[in-house]
Amino acid sequence: MFGPALQVRGIEKSFKDLHVLQGVDFDVQAGSIFALLGSNGAGKTTLVRILSTLLSPDAGIATVNGFDVATEPKDVRESISLTGQFAAVDEVLTGRENLVLIAKLRHLKHPGTIADELLARFSLTEAGNRKAGTYSGGMRRRLDISMSLIGNPPIIFLDEPTTGLDPQARLEVWQTIKDLANSGTTVLLTTQYLDEAETLADRIAILHKGVIIQNGTLKELKALLPAAEVEYVEKQPSLEDVFLTLVGEDAAAAPDENTDAATAVPAGKESR
Ligand SMILES: Nc1ncnc2c1ncn2[C@@H]1O[C@H](COP(=O)(O)OP(=O)(O)OP(=O)(O)O)[C@@H](O)[C@H]1O
Ligand SMILES: [Mg+2]
Repeated sequence: MFGPALQVRGIEKSFKDLHVLQGVDFDVQAGSIFALLGSNGAGKTTLVRILSTLLSPDAGIATVNGFDVATEPKDVRESISLTGQFAAVDEVLTGRENLVLIAKLRHLKHPGTIADELLARFSLTEAGNRKAGTYSGGMRRRLDISMSLIGNPPIIFLDEPTTGLDPQARLEVWQTIKDLANSGTTVLLTTQYLDEAETLADRIAILHKGVIIQNGTLKELKALLPAAEVEYVEKQPSLEDVFLTLVGEDAAAAPDENTDAATAVPAGKESR
């Protein structure tokens, strides 16, 4: 493949007076997991909708698998799959029937075989003949992701794939996402969970106030904060520290090094 799987340049989008995206730039390398991190309302879903051609940007250029979202939307749609914040599973159908249905809708040969392979891959074989309405949250999400893989799209967008899941189900979905990336799929993931980005992503970008305020590997992001200013503290900054420092409403305007009392920062944290 030539160039990055995703190229996003100067994307802007407003809803009336609300300037949600104000010039978003980033690249995603093919075969990598890229996490787009941002608070509620930061514009993550808006960006995913633009990249999947569901919404037109006001300005900027985005290419997906080398295709321009504005001028080649059909090629873009054939290159991607989108798993939204809310699952697309039909609860009345069994897991297997859901998969067969999508495979048929995509005019693929051997829909039954495709369904069985996906059920096996996502550890759903036993549950395959049960109504999806009886599935746990984690199973449902795995089924949803497996449905989006039908047709083998090279790029997958996962919009908050683990929101609302319990810890065990989150781990299952994380493993699913890792397996996807290992098999060469490019994953763009949005999340509000720092540990999710930390665990999964090759690169992490923080979307805040309409722009990407940081973009790097976990190591690079952590290096933005001084490791341990106080010698006895062995703790390295977590992604959470980095995020809150960068996003934290100007409150974190660096305190003076020499102010004696009430330093708002770790130095005084002897009891935790
Ligand atoms: N179609 C729309 N019309 C008007 N406002 C919208 C529309 N879509 C999104 N918005 C607003 O744009 C902002 C960004 O929304 P978006 O859904 O992209 O955020 P998000 O980062 O995905 O948030 P969350 O983490 O809660 O899913 C929000 O303030 C939202 O209310
Ligand atoms: Mg969203």
